[in-house]
Amino acid sequence: MTAAIYPGSFDPVTYGHLDIIRRAAEIFDELTVSVLNNKTKTPLFSVEERVKMLEEATKDLPNVTIDSFSGLLIDYAKEKNIHVAIRGLRAITDFEYELQIAQTNRKFSGGDLDTMFLTTSLEYAYLSSSTVKEIASFNGDISQCVPDFVAKLIYEKYGLKDRSYYEQ
Ligand code: PNS
Repeated sequence: MTAAIYPGSFDPVTYGHLDIIRRAAEIFDELTVSVLNNKTKTPLFSVEERVKMLEEATKDLPNVTIDSFSGLLIDYAKEKNIHVAIRGLRAITDFEYELQIAQTNRKFSGGDLDTMFLTTSLEYAYLSSSTVKEIASFNGDISQCVPDFVAKLIYEKYGLKDRSYYEQ
């Protein structure tokens, strides 16, 4: 059986992440999408909220499990007995950062954890959780970036009503 972990902040999950999740779930028998509990960042959504959103957004994918982790990815992967991490690449700038992390993880896991890169579909190449949050914070339209239920939750965080409220 083949298994992989897709780690990330997912603050919040976007269509770009969901594209990677769907494609990785077709390649591997089991995919664990895991939210990093990063104490050094101040996220918009709690880990629990991010896990819930991912569960809802992937409920039609039977071989996808949502989890969270703290600390090093190599330790978490070892605990789960998983040897492949998935990361999405949007542009060359992602690659430089991701290559260094992938090489570090491989080196420090003693070759136990490899990273497999999937290139983000072109229609989502511009997307990031940070830009989605910035657009939403100014009440911009994020309907092309995240599922409707996620958009609602983001606007709520900024004390805004869903855009459909204003458009009526
Ligand atoms: O969605 P992100 O924020 O780009 O995800 C980054 C993530 C979670 C993959 C990365 O920061 C990570 O794996 N962090 C856990 C700590 C760790 O293992 N760091 C790698 C050694 S530098």
